[in-house]
Amino acid sequence: MTESELRDLLVELGASLFARGYSVGSAGNISVRLPDGYLMTPTNSSLGRLKAERISKLDLDWRHIGGDKPSKEVFMHRAVLTARPEAGAVVHLHSTHATAIGCLADSGEAAPIPPLTPYFVMRVGRTLPVIRYYRPGDAAMEQDIHEAAKTARAMLLANHGPVVSGQSLIDAVYAAEELEEAARLALMLRGQSPRELTAAQVDDLLSTFG
Ligand code: 13P
Repeated sequence: MTESELRDLLVELGASLFARGYSVGSAGNISVRLPDGYLMTPTNSSLGRLKAERISKLDLDWRHIGGDKPSKEVFMHRAVLTARPEAGAVVHLHSTHATAIGCLADSGEAAPIPPLTPYFVMRVGRTLPVIRYYRPGDAAMEQDIHEAAKTARAMLLANHGPVVSGQSLIDAVYAAEELEEAARLALMLRGQSPRELTAAQVDDLLSTFG
């Protein structure tokens, strides 16, 4: 896709996430890898009302070179995109149920949501590390996130929200949506004994769908 098409898609997907309650107010931010740098949603912008021409652009050294001032979470996005060369985009949300799990789980936990459904496993994978609490925008979170992202496509920031990567922008958004649904199911089934996918079923999904 061209940069212009990616900008338009970012506006469309941001509006869709916002309209369905995946982000509220000015919460959440999204980055996309380009051949010559990165696109990033501007700080204090609502995902519901992004403007294609005002989306921030950063060069390959993460210097701001165009559009509005980028998200304060640029360190978070850089941590994931540098750890995962195959990732084309990162979505950070404060989506309710995933954030709730991030308030319940202990930092260091590797799988706070059990493998209940195939699409959660296919889109998010086997692990979902929980990163200890950092203040939003704190550059100190970069190292922990970078380490976790080497082996995990997505993670939960304690008391803050999910960070999800995907090969493309649409993949990252789909994964963020699946994560939120899985978190909702996990909370809905808490205290019950739901049937989880077995290790063999998880292996089968990952070897079939990657
Ligand atoms: P920005 O408005 O700087 O992108 O921050 C929003 C957010 O989600 C903080 O975690």
